[in-house]
Amino acid sequence: MCGIFGCIMDEGKAAPLIHESLKRLEYRGYDSVGIATLEDGKATIKKDQGKIDDVHRLIDLDDMPGPIGIGHTRWATHGAPLKVNAHPHVDCSGQIIVVHNGIIENFSELRLELESRGHVFVSKTDTEVVAHMIEENFKGNSAKTLEDAVRETVKRIDGSYALAIVSTREPDKIICARNESPLVLGVGKKAIYCASDIPAFLPVTNKAVFVNDGELVVLSKSGYEIRRIQDNSLVAREPEIIDWTPEMAVKQGYPHFMIKEVHEQPETLHNTLRLQDHYLDLISTFLDRANEVFLVACGTSYHACLAASYMFSKLAFLPTYPVYASEFIEQHGKSVNIDSTILAVSQSGETADTLAAVTASQQRAATILGLTNAIGSTLTRVSRVYIGQQSGPEIGVAATKTFTSQLSVLCQLALRLAKKRGKVSQQEMDFIEEKLEQLPSIVRTIVDDQEEKIKRIADKYREAKVFFFLGRGISTATAYEGRLKLMEIAYVPSIAFPAGESKHGPISLIEPGFPVVFICPKDGSHKTLVGNIMEMKARGASIISIVEQGDEEIKTLSDDYVEVPCGIPEILSPIPFIIPLQLLAYYMAIGRGYNPDMPRNLAKSVTVK
Ligand code: F6R
Repeated sequence: MCGIFGCIMDEGKAAPLIHESLKRLEYRGYDSVGIATLEDGKATIKKDQGKIDDVHRLIDLDDMPGPIGIGHTRWATHGAPLKVNAHPHVDCSGQIIVVHNGIIENFSELRLELESRGHVFVSKTDTEVVAHMIEENFKGNSAKTLEDAVRETVKRIDGSYALAIVSTREPDKIICARNESPLVLGVGKKAIYCASDIPAFLPVTNKAVFVNDGELVVLSKSGYEIRRIQDNSLVAREPEIIDWTPEMAVKQGYPHFMIKEVHEQPETLHNTLRLQDHYLDLISTFLDRANEVFLVACGTSYHACLAASYMFSKLAFLPTYPVYASEFIEQHGKSVNIDSTILAVSQSGETADTLAAVTASQQRAATILGLTNAIGSTLTRVSRVYIGQQSGPEIGVAATKTFTSQLSVLCQLALRLAKKRGKVSQQEMDFIEEKLEQLPSIVRTIVDDQEEKIKRIADKYREAKVFFFLGRGISTATAYEGRLKLMEIAYVPSIAFPAGESKHGPISLIEPGFPVVFICPKDGSHKTLVGNIMEMKARGASIISIVEQGDEEIKTLSDDYVEVPCGIPEILSPIPFIIPLQLLAYYMAIGRGYNPDMPRNLAKSVTVK
């Protein structure tokens, strides 16, 4: 996820406005920044790695001439957060200048093709292919317009993009195009804007035009023209008036970042389906050859590892050991060796305990593999191979969208390994892959259909002193994660166990009205789980179950239930089943008067909407 912004002003310098607008998009990415402006047919480009304020101190982003320009604030997906990979990117001639948010899936093929025609690439990004393709499209036809060259280019791109392009060839225009990445135009009195999100221009105009997938826009001083990419037909679309406050706008109308990020999961899960094959293959090859595999992480990332240990074992017949990073050195520090492989999972790539476990293992010659959301983080530097989960920055205190993305990546790794080892039939593989593709829409359905109900459940149990979370098999990880969310955000003491363990002690806590959340996918453990529910019910517990649609047996046993679509393979079930628990934690926090975006010392001191 990155932020893009462009503007054409009737008069004055565009750069200070672009700079200010990018600051308001920093929640979309902040590892590098760049601006390009045009004046009298000449381009000026400034860019560097680092946060906007730091880069501005060094290279003065306001001091750039010209009334037209584009800018970008980056969250790295392809290529480390270095100056050379910062946007804008240019073609060989320096005449075509591009900023991009999204992931170009076929960039490797396109790059090879362009290199074979003599194009020289300087960055490791997927975006740079766009500039060279536009250049290529001009070859042999100098009469072609920039708009035509961009249209031909985007027709060949697979993947997601919001693009803003300027060129010294036609220095009075910005061309934009969109597929699956947000793009919105702002219509001011004396300027026109394009941006990833409304907050970028909201202080200067509240008139917005939303660009749809498959559309290309030409911005000029006289306004905007939208056309469909496929057939070049004109689209008539009037601006809408946006009545958000700037604070609401940054959260896209949501009251808190946490709920915004919960709702973003269809998009972030979709991004995980676009990972580079090469890295998935490499990591699964290392796992295949490993003598022993440790899955090492903290907190929510540890829960993803716990779920992954079921995935690797069930799909690929690979035993793995999920270990809390903070325990790793004590438990395995002396035995880990050259034949050990550590798959470290960390959203931030900077968690001290995870890095300490990695360093200790590295000193004993183990192989380090990484899964992280922060390319350029320490974990990416110390890993032999790493994979970036491409979830965009997570601003809420609680990990939500990054958890489901981790699960999706880990499942894809398990599938690759299973394929390599010939452990899963083609039919099963196809089924799981098909369901993986459907997960974004499954998650969207859960949020759309169940959020109101979950609010009511949260309200009913608002005063509960303690909660239990129980699941079996892979759903144990879901139960642990549901507990962590509720404790972390709503400050409700919570307990989680594999359901089969509950009778070995924890059940003695149960008294009438005690809320017990059961995670109930219709997998091999369903029947036994029904027995666990009955045990709890017999002691008067209030049963809250997360069930598959049509699971009448468990619904009848439950005081309250939340439904998720049925037919999800066991291996994928933690993804849809955690969504209701994220929402439960959020609405419990709201009901109890806490701001879920704040750490505890501040959570009560701010107004909760
Ligand atoms: C929970 C949460 C933490 C993190 C943990 C690990 O909502 O945010 O438990 O999951 O601190 O962080 P990373 O994944 O960055 O290593």
